[in-house]
Amino acid sequence: MKTANIGHRGAKGHLPENTLASFQKAIDLGANGIELDVHLSADGQVIVMHDETIDRTTDGKGAVKQQPLAVLKTHRIDFQFEIPTLSEVFDLVDRKVLVNIELKVFETAEPVVLLIEKYVLEKGWQYSDFLISSFDWLALEKVRALHAEIPLGVLTSTDLDLAIAFAKVINAETIHPYFHLLTDENVARMQTQNVKVYTWTVNEFEDLHRVTSLGVDGIITDFPDRL
Ligand code: G3P
Ligand code: CA
Repeated sequence: MKTANIGHRGAKGHLPENTLASFQKAIDLGANGIELDVHLSADGQVIVMHDETIDRTTDGKGAVKQQPLAVLKTHRIDFQFEIPTLSEVFDLVDRKVLVNIELKVFETAEPVVLLIEKYVLEKGWQYSDFLISSFDWLALEKVRALHAEIPLGVLTSTDLDLAIAFAKVINAETIHPYFHLLTDENVARMQTQNVKVYTWTVNEFEDLHRVTSLGVDGIITDFPDRL
């Protein structure tokens, strides 16, 4: 089967991360999935942002969770781009590619599930159009408790055996290991357990070549055009 090509924070190698322009760029470059990160605003909206604060990527300051959406929307990324909400990204994507949502904090689990249910029940999306991943395994457990069908991905930068065991517990579709952890043996072991391997964040040609030859199922990259 073809390796999934997933644009990390959109096409981070080409345009500012986690912006609508970056997600569109990833799609234009041939990605068949996009990865993004979420936090909650002060008024409970699901906001697409990697860091806990807006300091690094915008002209504003402070924690995402301390500002309502209307205030977050006044800030600019790289002078021009707005901070997107998760529903704005869904509307842009419009089922063209897989949306891999990385939950950065536990509190995002329930609002993200509610939003996904809305898009499935009211807008014709399928649960398989989404993939929720997290390093916060309790957040993944929470999603599974709320919903049996939404595909889950177990993120890890350390212990693959623990990730495999946990993937079985929550019936995860994928494990997302840091690419330096991968070997022929452990990729095969994960796949034998019926979990797909989506690795991150692979950017250099040499590394892309290596993980492809290991037979991973998906690659999360800042440069979808390099795959
Ligand atoms: O989802 C894989 C990767 O995005 C995890 O690391 O820090 O880029 O969110 P980070
Ligand atoms: Ca991420």
